[in-house]
Amino acid sequence: GKDGYRHYMEKELHEHPLVIGQTLQRMIDPANRKVVLPDMPFDLATVPRAVITACGSAFYAGMVGRYWLESIARLPVDIDVASELRYRDPPLAHGSLGLLISQSGETADTLAALRTLRQNAVHILSVLNVEHSTMARESALVLGTVAGPEISVASTKAFTAQLTVLACLTIAIARARGTLDPLGEEELVAALLDLPSRAADVFAQGDAIRRMARVVAEARDVLYLGRGSMFPVALEGALKLKEISYIHAEAYAAGEMKHGPISLIDRTVPIVASAPFTPLFDKTLSNLQEAKARGGRLLVFTDTKGAERVSAIAEEMVVLPHVHDFAAPILQTIPVQMLAYEVAVMKGTDVDQPRNLAKSVTVE
Ligand code: M6R
Repeated sequence: GKDGYRHYMEKELHEHPLVIGQTLQRMIDPANRKVVLPDMPFDLATVPRAVITACGSAFYAGMVGRYWLESIARLPVDIDVASELRYRDPPLAHGSLGLLISQSGETADTLAALRTLRQNAVHILSVLNVEHSTMARESALVLGTVAGPEISVASTKAFTAQLTVLACLTIAIARARGTLDPLGEEELVAALLDLPSRAADVFAQGDAIRRMARVVAEARDVLYLGRGSMFPVALEGALKLKEISYIHAEAYAAGEMKHGPISLIDRTVPIVASAPFTPLFDKTLSNLQEAKARGGRLLVFTDTKGAERVSAIAEEMVVLPHVHDFAAPILQTIPVQMLAYEVAVMKGTDVDQPRNLAKSVTVE
């Protein structure tokens, strides 16, 4: 049941801290605080590159994964949505790592992409929530997201669990490739272990999130912005808003705004930005200043270190605890999903069963 929550989505949003914690428990040895993966049928140290593919929210999790794998493990990564990858016929380096991400393990396009990759001698590692699924049976290795059943059509906790698995996998690959020393690993693991309690802190921001939601609920179009690992968080926020509130939203890499979408900006198009204090904070902030100068209304998710500078320009802001850059996309996802939820509640839509959508898309 819904345990007293209004919708499954609300209940599942509140499970973020638990689910992140359970997923970490599965992957981190508490005694020595190191990532421990199951025995691999291939050698992580020698895979020449990774190909990541998935659909929808799972694809956005993969985009964060690319960011981590490139910067921390120095592993070259290709990424595409499964519906494109399956027909692209790309040249694939023999022995590459195929990273498939899916909550259900049954998504038709992701499964087809898995089969294409496997036929091309790519090692299949799937990140799945349903561990007895078709994709699980066809993978060389499955890393489970310990999210429990997700009932709401809009994915929430499965997404942060996917990010948690990809973060641990990045650490393991980086160690195997010699790009992360023990001290570096300790720092990243500590950042992840800190997440369940920081995630629980997000729920204290309910009022601020509802203030933002009132602005968004009045809009016909909304622009989401983020840079680096916050760009996929913006994409996730825009998808969630479209999916359950039926408000049109677009996400852009903040630096791309001046190449086109800036001409959309006026009082009627609120801008939702994810801007915690990471090394790209200043860059994002200057994009937001440009938007404000053109009459844009800024609704900004930031953290305690970014709050002072954001408050000078934002109409509404949500301030989360400051966490390590590595963990920031996981934490910053939670309020962005909560915003979509609050807007949908205000609009009175069928939050758990949005029109035209299926939980698991098993046909092409
Ligand atoms: O079961 P999967 O993770 O393979 O599903 C992929 C997408 O269909 C899914 O993430 C979809 O985009 C969600 N409804 C987003 O909230």
